[in-house]
Amino acid sequence: MDRDELLARARAAALRAYAPYSRFRVGAAVAVESSDGPRVVTGANVENASYGLTLCAERAALAAAFQLDAPADDAGAVSTARPRVTHIAVACIDAAPGAPASQRTPCGACRQWLAELAPEAIYYVDGIPGDLRLPDLLPYAFSLPPEA
Ligand code: THU
Repeated sequence: MDRDELLARARAAALRAYAPYSRFRVGAAVAVESSDGPRVVTGANVENASYGLTLCAERAALAAAFQLDAPADDAGAVSTARPRVTHIAVACIDAAPGAPASQRTPCGACRQWLAELAPEAIYYVDGIPGDLRLPDLLPYAFSLPPEA
């Protein structure tokens, strides 16, 4: 998936953020291989007056992307297969020009979600040159031991 195209989708998604408290709009665009071929699903942050219930853009987009069916060849005998996340773009459109990477990259909670749901994805972060991989974002990621 083209970097500039996916970042443009993330920036467009951020325009639909509900961020009346922080006024910091974030958009995410998730590219997935689904049963209907490649698809892009977007999300934006949704804040709440109780602050702690705020949902980040990355998790909003990932949750929506998991509504798609997995590619047929991944479905197997069980119906638990998930669409394969190939690329994720994140855009913090209210970060100041020249803002540091820390104002543009996913938060810790989102990184843990990404570790579980998009471990093989290529990450594009608006304002940060170069493509990132999960270990760039979350070295020593936590995971449970495989089931016996
Ligand atoms: N935010 C995200 O949507 N994603 C992140 O990874 C970092 C933070 C949102 C949450 C909140 O609505 C606003 O940015 C300020 O923290």
